[in-house]
Amino acid sequence: MNKTITLAFETSCDETSVAIVKGIDTVLSSKTYTQIATHKNYGGVVPEIASRMHIEVIDEVLKETLREAQMNLKDVDTISVTSGPGLVGALLVGVSYAKALSIATKKPIIAVNHMKGHIASIYISEKIKPPFLALVISGGHTYIIDVLDYNKFIKLGQTQDDAVGEAFDKVARVLGYPYPGGQKIEESALLGEDVYKFPRVFLEKDKFNFSFSGLKTAVINEINKMKMKNIEIDKNNISRSFQEAVIDVLVEKTISAAKKMKRDKIVICGGVSNNNAIFERISNVGEINSIKVFRPKPCYTTDNAAMIGVEGNIEYFYNGASKMDFTADPNLGL
Ligand code: KG4
Ligand code: ZN
Repeated sequence: MNKTITLAFETSCDETSVAIVKGIDTVLSSKTYTQIATHKNYGGVVPEIASRMHIEVIDEVLKETLREAQMNLKDVDTISVTSGPGLVGALLVGVSYAKALSIATKKPIIAVNHMKGHIASIYISEKIKPPFLALVISGGHTYIIDVLDYNKFIKLGQTQDDAVGEAFDKVARVLGYPYPGGQKIEESALLGEDVYKFPRVFLEKDKFNFSFSGLKTAVINEINKMKMKNIEIDKNNISRSFQEAVIDVLVEKTISAAKKMKRDKIVICGGVSNNNAIFERISNVGEINSIKVFRPKPCYTTDNAAMIGVEGNIEYFYNGASKMDFTADPNLGL
């Protein structure tokens, strides 16, 4: 793979992130400004506020990234930017900013798919090469993807409704935990037991799609029932029971997809891959089936520009620069 130095931008949701990346495994600098403290007040991301905050901080985040690497704009070879999927207004800030820089500096620009970026985050963290099976689990997405090569992907399945992280955040909200509540559910689950046996939705056997909205509704109904009867809610048991139902489905679908595609490596990526219970269970079942399970370093699991830089360099190596007429695509597929 090449040793291109790219300046990467990520603004698809609520993190304004800029990084400088060399090749596919070296992060020269990386800075992320997270808007979580603001969106917390509304219980979730407010798209209009997200776009405005990106505009306010993107200049400063770029300056800090260059300062950390002790580099100037002239020292980078290319510019990479997330073009989708994500919130359209938020994406447009990064895309417009990166295009303006590309024109001003005459550096080639590369439009990067955010989902491929999450998969590419593993190359910074682990010495791993394709082929492997990827489970992408984040606040906005849940995919099982067969990664045949650095630039060849086959989508095997996806959620039909809520993303895993979205279900975690919604259950957390009803339990009164602040946004985003995924980590709080994990912590709380450590102290509880799976007493509720919530539904596990497997949909069709041998297919790799997911559905989490039924589980989420079952959990919320149970909480509301207890509230109406004035029964004290054991948040730890609810969290544990919810998380166990999620894990059972993720384990079954991911391992059977890996076996079907004859893959001996699984990469779990996206914000929810931070969850140790999910990682450990898939790793244990993987080991029984001679499948090794990997995940990115914690700093590269949630949205970050370093992963966009890695994917930008892969894209540039295989397909060259993008044409200037690309735009933000909130529904960009693989
Ligand atoms: O990848 P990400 O930053 O954003 C999207 O691209 O959507 O993922 C954020 C999601 C949130 O839903 C958050 O609650 C979840 O990742 N998350 C977790 C954990 N840490 C973050 N979910 C479960 N357990 C965790 N430890
Ligand atoms: Zn993401």
